[in-house]
Parts: sequence; C-alpha cells; structure tokens
Amino acid sequence: MSLVLQAIFLLCVAFSVVKAVEAAARLLTRKRNRKRDVERPPSPIVKPLSGEKSVPSQVALRDKPNDVESASLQEHKDLYYKLQNLERYPEILPRCRDILIQMFAETLTDAQEHPETGILSIECYTRENLAAFLRSENDGTTEQWEQYVARRKGGSVREMFKDKEEAVWWLKQAAPVKYVDGAWLGHINKISTPFALRRSTKDAWQVMSEELGDGDLDKNHVTVYRDLMEEIGAGLPEGDTLDFIHPRHDLNEPRVWKAALAQLLISLFPHEFLPEILGFNMAYEGLPLHLMKTVKELEELKLNAYYFLLHIAIDNADSGHARMAMEAAVGYIEQMREKGGDAAAQQAWKRVQAGFVLAEGLPTTPQSPSLKLPAVESFPRNDREAEVVKIFQAKAPVAHKIHCSSRLKIGRHSLVDWLEPNAFASKQWQMDFLDDLSSMKPWVRKGDSSNSRLIQELSWEGKMFGSFTQSEVEVVKAWIDGLGAPDSRIYWSFVGRDAVPSSEACQMNDIREDYPVLKQVQSSEVSSEPVPQETLTATDLFSPNPTNINRFIPLWFAHPCLLENFVSIPAKVANSTGSAVVRVLRAQSGFENEGPGVAGMDEVRRPHTVGLVELGLEMMQRAGLSAPRSLKEALAGRDDSFAIEMLHASMKPIQSANFLIGMAWAFVQLHEALTASSLLSETSQEVLRQIARRERDGLRACLEVIEQDTRQYTDFSRGYSLGRAEIEFCFTRS
Ligand SMILES: *[C@@H]1O[C@H](CO)[C@@H](O)[C@H](O)[C@H]1NC(C)=O
Ligand SMILES: [Fe+2]
Ligand SMILES: [Fe+2]
Repeated sequence: MSLVLQAIFLLCVAFSVVKAVEAAARLLTRKRNRKRDVERPPSPIVKPLSGEKSVPSQVALRDKPNDVESASLQEHKDLYYKLQNLERYPEILPRCRDILIQMFAETLTDAQEHPETGILSIECYTRENLAAFLRSENDGTTEQWEQYVARRKGGSVREMFKDKEEAVWWLKQAAPVKYVDGAWLGHINKISTPFALRRSTKDAWQVMSEELGDGDLDKNHVTVYRDLMEEIGAGLPEGDTLDFIHPRHDLNEPRVWKAALAQLLISLFPHEFLPEILGFNMAYEGLPLHLMKTVKELEELKLNAYYFLLHIAIDNADSGHARMAMEAAVGYIEQMREKGGDAAAQQAWKRVQAGFVLAEGLPTTPQSPSLKLPAVESFPRNDREAEVVKIFQAKAPVAHKIHCSSRLKIGRHSLVDWLEPNAFASKQWQMDFLDDLSSMKPWVRKGDSSNSRLIQELSWEGKMFGSFTQSEVEVVKAWIDGLGAPDSRIYWSFVGRDAVPSSEACQMNDIREDYPVLKQVQSSEVSSEPVPQETLTATDLFSPNPTNINRFIPLWFAHPCLLENFVSIPAKVANSTGSAVVRVLRAQSGFENEGPGVAGMDEVRRPHTVGLVELGLEMMQRAGLSAPRSLKEALAGRDDSFAIEMLHASMKPIQSANFLIGMAWAFVQLHEALTASSLLSETSQEVLRQIARRERDGLRACLEVIEQDTRQYTDFSRGYSLGRAEIEFCFTRS
C-alpha cells in the first residue's frame, strides 16, 4: 500500500514540475476511432447503462470535437477542395500520398483486430472464395434487413433518423461524400495504363460512367443529389467550390469528410495503387444495410428517397456495380497470375484487400445526433484501455487521502480529484481521465512511449521507479504506443511492397506512364484566329493514309488523353459539357452507344470492344510495325514531342478546357479521314466511322456553349489550329 501512496505522491510532484503543456494540435496524432465499422447503426437502440453513477457536467463535453479533431477536419476539408482543383495545387501531392497510406495503415490495423471476419478472412484467394464471401456478405445484409423490418413491424423506432428535421439535417451532412460519388475511379483507364490492364480498368470505368449517368445529365448521381439538396432547401453551393468548405454551411460531420477525402485520394495515383482501387471499388459497390434503411425511413417521413433507391438498384450483385466491380478485381488478379504465377496473384489479392478494407473501415454516413450512442457505451474501447483503467482503479482508493499541493491538472481535474474512488467508479469518468491523460504532453506522447515522461519517470532512475510493477509499466507503455497514428509500415508489410517515400514517388514523373505529372511546360506558339465554322464542319481536310508514320503513331496513341481528365471530378462533370465529354470518351474507348437504360454487366460481357487504342494497334500491324504494350512503347524511338505536349496539356482540364476541346475537334476530323484508310480493315473503318459520329455529336454540344463567349472560342480555336497543324505534318512530309 505504501508503494501505491508513494506512486501517487510522486506523480503529483512530478506533474507539478511541468510548466507548460505543449499544444495538442498535431495533425498526425489525431484521435483514432478504434471501433469497427460504425456505419451500420446499432439496432435496436441500446438504452443507457443503468446503475452507472452519474458524473455531471462531463457528458456534454464529450461530443464536442477537441482541437486535434477540428484541425484534422479542417485539413480534410481543405484537401477536399484542392483535390477537386488539383492542377492549381500540385504541391499537395506528397502529403496526399502520405495520408492515403496512413489511412490504409489505420483501417488495416482495425481490420486485423478481427482477422476472422471481413475480407481478411480469405487468406488464400480463389475466385470461388471471393464470390462466396461477397455472397455471404450480401446474405448477411438481407438477413439483417429482415430483422429490421420485423422490428419495425413490432413498433420499434426508426434507426436512421428520429424525425423529419433530423433526416433533413442528415441528408445535408451527407453532401460532401455524395458530391464525389464515383471519384475513386476518376483516373482509372487512362491512356497511360498499360494496354493489357485496360481490360480490367475498362470494366471499372464503366462503373464510373454509370455514376456519371453515362453522359445523361439527368441520370448523373451528383445531379440527382443536387436536386435533392434543392428540394430540402439545403442552400449548398457546388461541391468543387471554395465556398462549399466554408464553415457557414455547417457541414461538420468529420467521418463524412474523411470518407469523401479517401475517395478522392485513392483515385489519385491510378497506376501505383491500381489493385487497391479495384478492391475499394468492390467494397463500395456492395449493398449496405444502411442504404435500405435510409430508403424506408425517408419514405416514412415523406422525403424524396430516389437517390438511395437508385443506388439499391444500380449497385445490385447480379448485373449491377457490385458484380462489375468483382469482375474487374478478379480480372486483374487473374492477369497477375498469368504473368507471375500464384505468388503474384496472392500479392495482388493482398492489395485488393487493402483497398477493400479502406472502404469498409471508413463510414460514409452522418450520425444522427438523437441516435448516436454516447461514446461511453463503447468504453473501454480496447483491451489496453481496460488494463490501464484497472491499474489506476486499484490505486484510487488510497490516492484521495493524499493532500497534494500541486495545482497542476491533468486536463479537467487534478490527479487526486481524478482518482477519487467514488468518481472513478464511473465509466464516463474513467474515459475522461484517459482522454485527458493521453493529451497531456510531454507526459504522454501518443505513439511514442519511450519519449513520454510518464514512462521515463516510472522507469529505472525515474522519480517514480518502482511505484508501478514492471508489468504495469508495460501495460501503460503499450497503451501509449497504441494511441499514435498507426505506422505506415503496416501497409507496406501487409501488401509486401518495399516502402517508397512520397517525396520520391511524386518525383517519378515520366508523363508517358505516370499520373499525375503537373509541371509547368511551354506549349507551342499558335495563331489564335477564330476558326471559321465551315472548316469545323469539313470532313475532307486530310487524306486517308498518313505519310509520316513515325510522327503519326505517337500522335495517335497520345491523343485519347485530351479529354480523359475532364471526367475525374464528379462535381465538374455534372453539367452539359461534362456529360457530353463522357459520351465522347465512351465512344473513343469503344463503349456501347448509350441507350435509355444502364448497361451494367452487358458492357462487361460484350466480347469485343474496339476503341482508339485497338484501332491504333491494328494500323501498326498492317503497317508492319511491332505492337506496343503501352503508350510509352508506342512513343519510344519515335518523334514524340507533340504527343508529350498533348499529355501535359491534358493534365490541366480546368485551365485548358476549351483548348483541349478544340484540339479534340481536329482529331475527330482525322478520324473521319481515316475511315477510308488502307491501314484499317473494312470492319474497323466502320467502327471508326461510328466513333467519329458520336464524337462529333458530343463535341458539338460542347461547342454550342463555347461559341457564346469570344474568349472561350479563341481558346478553342488555338487548340484546334495547333492540333490540325500537327496532324497535317503526318500527311505532307515523310
Ligand atoms: C461545366 O463545369 C465546368 C467545370 O466546373 C465548367 O468549367 C464549365 O464552364 C461548365 N459548363 C457549363 C456549360 O456550365
Ligand atoms: Fe452512385
Ligand atoms: Fe455505384
């Protein structure tokens, strides 16, 4: 007992030595929610624990975000805006990659606490295992849904929102994530993607295309949500504007912003994190229980549930997004198997899992205040917390007898007050104590026990050595180490890759095979005379057979890049121009002409898709040239300076929108000329004719807007003239 007294006393003395507490607002040490997916609301609602001694005035404090939380929310909002306007903020890339890897590590750590459930339970990948897993998840959801329906029939309360007012609040709070719907696939299936992988990335692109309404503005998911926001009078601006992240809109559900940011982040490095994106997609496109509850409860409250209903239908596991997403992931893994055997397939699987876990680990929904469980319900949040509490609780009965002269507090109370046995019997009190102690620097440095003064004083030569047993010290150490942001090495070792620091990774900028590459480059000088309309409508500007093939090949393989970055930010696609560009890209990549419905698995099952890449490969073959496996190979050893210039311009779809559309127009005229080329079979000529027709339709819709503004038309004309001059080169010289 005397040892315990001594410990408490020394703690008092030692704490009073500290003059100041360092500012807690360090971004990386933000508090982590260790609970597993909390998106599925607890059902039925658990009543507050009875028999708990109530400690007044603390409860209200709990749900207020602390400084660390609001700093991280602030950063998330900031990056949410910048990532939707990336070309203006290239400097954020290394930080973004770090956060992404941090998020992988965080969600993997959580998932690894329950390796027997979830996607990690499939240690050894086979298509059958994966399909069975997804099916059982789906069955589980159905079963829970039936239980929910039965509960509600029995008169139990709503589980998503208490009343109409709360539902309206909820819908508005969800906007940040809804306004980036599909963003995780925003950069997939690029021309810089190795050609062999385009089979899988194309399937994923079709999922994105459907998020974007397949080019029909009314069906665009962002449009549908925007209409809903209008209907409820949310008063929100467009999701990609600076205004959207302004505090005056009261959009402040941290987990919604975090999930939205994760969607933008994972899309950002489409070549480095391809399997992770495919895994993320597979998790997101599965049908979650909360979606079905949302539809039912919105309808009960006479609110428009169409957005959510649409997602139940379109994400279905048979022909919808869930199935398409699985096919894309399976296709990728099987390709890795063909190339590198089973070991390669299993490594790819790990990476697909990491992406899946990221999506599953970050809840996307707001939490209705009236239905939120008090945080104390889940305390202790892990075994380490439970053990630490036990240690302090054992010491509490004697602690209050000490009259400590120290005025220095651990957060809200002095140590002696904290350890008052009656108070310490309360779970809420214990949780507050641990929370306050954990933000008490330098006594506790989250994630770094060896530099935490508490541990130093408890160790040999410290003032409190011997007052805690060795095993108790170990418990406290483990607790402190567990408080930190998870080590990013968790990601690297899980997926079996060698860690590459972001400063390095973001320097690897070969624009022929990497994305994003945002550099200032000088583009060619060109006249900005407005192009006359009859030039634009002409279909016979070029002859059918290029004479300078060395210059033609780089041009052909690079030019699909021109518009591909237009569709990477959902909020920017949700207007007439964005939708028209989606239709043009669909034509260029060989997707089926848009019908009145969704293609879903029809698109994935189509045996043969021919787009610009495939036509390019045929032309090379007929010209007796060996087939390249990627854009980089197509450019290698050829005159690629203009191709590189196009690639650079394509990285700036905001600044160069009209210029790029103008250039794309010149290439449509090239396509029209080549429909009579001897480099293409008759079938392929016909395919190209169809592509060109659809391109012209789409680009004309863009031009109708551009024409109304002289400056925009000047930019368009510059792009057009530059593209046309370069194409002419391929026909007039050799
Ligand atoms: C469509 O959105 C883009 C990106 O936000 C914008 O640059 C463009 O002016 C818009 N076009 C129309 C027709 O509103
Ligand atoms: Fe969607
Ligand atoms: Fe979807």
